[in-house]
Amino acid sequence: MTLSSTTRIAIIASAFFVPVLTYVYLTRKPKKSSAGLVPAATEITALYIHPIKSCHGISVQSAKLLPTGLDLDRQWMWVTYPNYEFLTIRNFAKMTLIRPSYDANTDTLTITAPAPNSIDEKLEFSIPAHPSKEWLNKNTETHEAKIWNQWTSSRVFSTKLTSPFNDFFGKEVRLVYKASLYDDPRPLRSNGAKEVLGYEASTCFPDLMPLLVGNESSIAELNTRLKAAENLTIDVRRFRPNILVKGDAANAWDEDRWKTLRISPKGQHGGKPMTFDVTQRCARCRVPNVDPETAEQHKTQPWDTLMKYRRIDEGITYKPCFGMLCVPRETGKIKVGDKFEVLEVTDKHRYMPGF
Ligand SMILES: *[C@@H]1O[C@H](CO)[C@@H](O)[C@H](O)[C@H]1NC(C)=O
Ligand SMILES: *[C@@H]1O[C@H](CO)[C@@H](O)[C@H](O)[C@H]1NC(C)=O
Repeated sequence: MTLSSTTRIAIIASAFFVPVLTYVYLTRKPKKSSAGLVPAATEITALYIHPIKSCHGISVQSAKLLPTGLDLDRQWMWVTYPNYEFLTIRNFAKMTLIRPSYDANTDTLTITAPAPNSIDEKLEFSIPAHPSKEWLNKNTETHEAKIWNQWTSSRVFSTKLTSPFNDFFGKEVRLVYKASLYDDPRPLRSNGAKEVLGYEASTCFPDLMPLLVGNESSIAELNTRLKAAENLTIDVRRFRPNILVKGDAANAWDEDRWKTLRISPKGQHGGKPMTFDVTQRCARCRVPNVDPETAEQHKTQPWDTLMKYRRIDEGITYKPCFGMLCVPRETGKIKVGDKFEVLEVTDKHRYMPGF
């Protein structure tokens, strides 16, 4: 059998091209995911800690990152007595007038609130910000406290310190604490549960996850709408984020896709980069309607505006979303100005109720 020269050329050519094409096929870059490209690196513009759940926050220039979230963030919480159920701005807006302040020199947290029935008097007490186990054993009692329907161990402060706050709340309350490093962890639920996240993680007293990260561009975009609708602008602090990053106004709400994040310490303060798993979008209630400076509650905004266009998570369609909830994989120190990168994006976020 003789082969025509064309056939011979075809055989030789395919003997060459088939391996080459196979090689190219096998080593090709993964196709761009339907979630799109990762956004450009940016930087951290603000850090906030809220030592007592639902009370006034503190803006800081740097914060220690613990496995449970930022150091001092939501490690304290007011609870009802005798039921030990969490108290929040949702049912008592004035809680945001309770102001913790931190003195680094004495490592003390001082808590103040306007005294009821007085114009200028203040309620006040101070506690160690990083109490030792010995101090806690001596000065607090242990009791389970309830957040949503989850009970978790806590340390209860003496009423000698906290009883003046009963008048502020108009009922008997207790202040409880959870030490991040040596008290029983409060395991994450919802999208942070071990079966979903892939590893065990815990937090102190936030509703769901250790951290909330927000993109400045999104609050700016929301404010454009609020301004047009009601001549109103609001401060991002109403959303109680921990970490705020800079954006450019090109396409706000880019954070909806974040999946894996990295913060790299900049300059002299050193330290290794920290990686974060974004568990889900943060579905909001009406807490952002409360002005944290005055505790005044707006009847409709920003809730109504957010409801119009931010019901974007098919796992929780009856609530609007703002900010992304995260779990840190490493600990370290975070500073304003640190580099912030999105390593991976996803179009698979879906909110799982946790309670
Ligand atoms: C909008 O609010 C600002 C500040 O509260 C006020 O000075 C201004 O007059 C208002 N503008 C309109 C159009 O109501
Ligand atoms: C923040 O949002 C802006 C759009 O408003 C977007 O350009 C930017 O990429 C976002 N930043 C990150 C880190 O996703």
